Amino acid sequence: MLSKINPIQTNSWKALDEHFGGNDFDLRSLFQYNPNRFEEFSLQKEDYLFDYSKNLIDSRTKDLLLQLAEDCQLKDAISKMFSGDKINETEGRAVLHTALRDFSDREILVDGENIKPQIKRVLDHMKAFSEKIISGTHKGFSGKDITDVVNIGIGGSDLGPVMVCSALKHFKTRLDVHFVSNVDGNHIAEVVKNLNPETTLFIIASKTFTTQETMTNANSAKDWFLKAGKQEDVAKHFVALSTNIEAVKSFGIAEENIFEFWDWVGGRYSLWSAIGLSIVLAVGYENFEQLLKGAFDTDQHFQTADFSENVPVLMGLLGIWYRNFYAATTYAILPYSQYLDRFAAYLQQGDMESNGKCVDRNGEFVEYETGPIIWGEPGTNGQHAFYQLIHQGTELIPADFIAYVKSCNEVSDHQEKLLANFFAQTEALAFGKTEEEAEEELRSSGKSDEEIERLLNYKVFHGNTPTNSILFKELTPFSLGQLIAMYEHKIFVQGVIWNIFSFDQFGVELGKVLANKILPELENNSPVTSHDSSTNGLINYYKGNK
Ligand code: F6P
Repeated sequence: MLSKINPIQTNSWKALDEHFGGNDFDLRSLFQYNPNRFEEFSLQKEDYLFDYSKNLIDSRTKDLLLQLAEDCQLKDAISKMFSGDKINETEGRAVLHTALRDFSDREILVDGENIKPQIKRVLDHMKAFSEKIISGTHKGFSGKDITDVVNIGIGGSDLGPVMVCSALKHFKTRLDVHFVSNVDGNHIAEVVKNLNPETTLFIIASKTFTTQETMTNANSAKDWFLKAGKQEDVAKHFVALSTNIEAVKSFGIAEENIFEFWDWVGGRYSLWSAIGLSIVLAVGYENFEQLLKGAFDTDQHFQTADFSENVPVLMGLLGIWYRNFYAATTYAILPYSQYLDRFAAYLQQGDMESNGKCVDRNGEFVEYETGPIIWGEPGTNGQHAFYQLIHQGTELIPADFIAYVKSCNEVSDHQEKLLANFFAQTEALAFGKTEEEAEEELRSSGKSDEEIERLLNYKVFHGNTPTNSILFKELTPFSLGQLIAMYEHKIFVQGVIWNIFSFDQFGVELGKVLANKILPELENNSPVTSHDSSTNGLINYYKGNK
């Protein structure tokens, strides 16, 4: 079990409070007075550079934040997670997504049983199956090769694979992989519209195999398929990824087509498990293994590096600094890579479903802020949409900038332009433009005193907006694995310090229960009166107009 320490009662938190109140962290002066700031606040690893020098911290802030990690027994929490302690206490489960990518020889025990052989068995199954599909050995019911794969799942059974398949498009096999998640029938209709049932493989991905959206889409996929194929052909065209083997069998999927995973894999941490089958089909097993190896590399770093040089620990602590001391409500994820177009959406579940909690590990309501709102879009598109607010709005929005030195596709000078924007934005956000600079600029562009007075305030950039820069040498399955695991562990660090349970998600249940109550009420035309006036009004408007 994890410790149950109220972070705000620790000496380090109190010291951080005083330190925050007694200082005015100004990036211009911090850089001016410390010529070694970049060296002091950045880490270079074999595959990437992590630059956190453009944060509103000095060395004392860092020391106090590291002390906070010690006071909240982060080291002990890390070793408990990796060794299979049941740290998901509210659900009575271990948290072992890291075991799925553990390439060491050590045993990992759950309830006294070493889980490594089961993991290997499923990986071997995924490898053998994917090779048959990709090579064309496995044929569809009419003898044709499979050309398209549709992953049906939602949340953790969708977002990770969607994000990775998009990120690794450059490494694509001959298969086209599609995703259906929304219960909105338009989603599946648009996906199957151009597909041929003879050459399509459906993957039904659901940890519980009870999720309404997924089961509805799975049944519709089967109906669509059965318009062309027969019941006995289903085995060639449907596979399932689940922990609920009985439910999968009663859906009609053959046992040999079930790829199992286990309750110690959380949905939002499951892309490393059988849930990654769509990734394996999209990029091949070897690339999937590289993804796992990259994550394993970060796992080892997270477990062994001193906290002062530990990337996920530093990322987590900096996030706490902004959330709890600067009261920043949101955190932006800004990848300067089109391949990472779904990265922020993926992290929204990873972070917000994990740390969007208000009850601590003692069962008490917290008296401090927990998880921020995570959002973002790839640069440079974001620059032409919401950066205005980051530069000149009234909110402090800390952000992570992520980019790759080399492009997968060298197209004229695109990469230089992309990275010039990356560098320029972190510089502009940090240092802004002072009144004097703005005035000087207006004057040299020939503006009169009157015009300068009228325009000056609009031209000032407050700056002092903190950013981390994560600059990888190149986008490979390995480096993507490293990056994803960094964020998983960042989330873990914050959950430990906030003294919350990061691995349950009871907050998604109420809406599901109410939807199931409302569903039968939509089946007839009589007006409802059983809800509040707004909900009645909405339902009755729907009924009156459907
Ligand atoms: O949204 C809640 C949730 O339980 C997520 O945690 C999970 O990733 C998603 O639903 C899908 O669940 P399942 O894989 O069981 O269908």
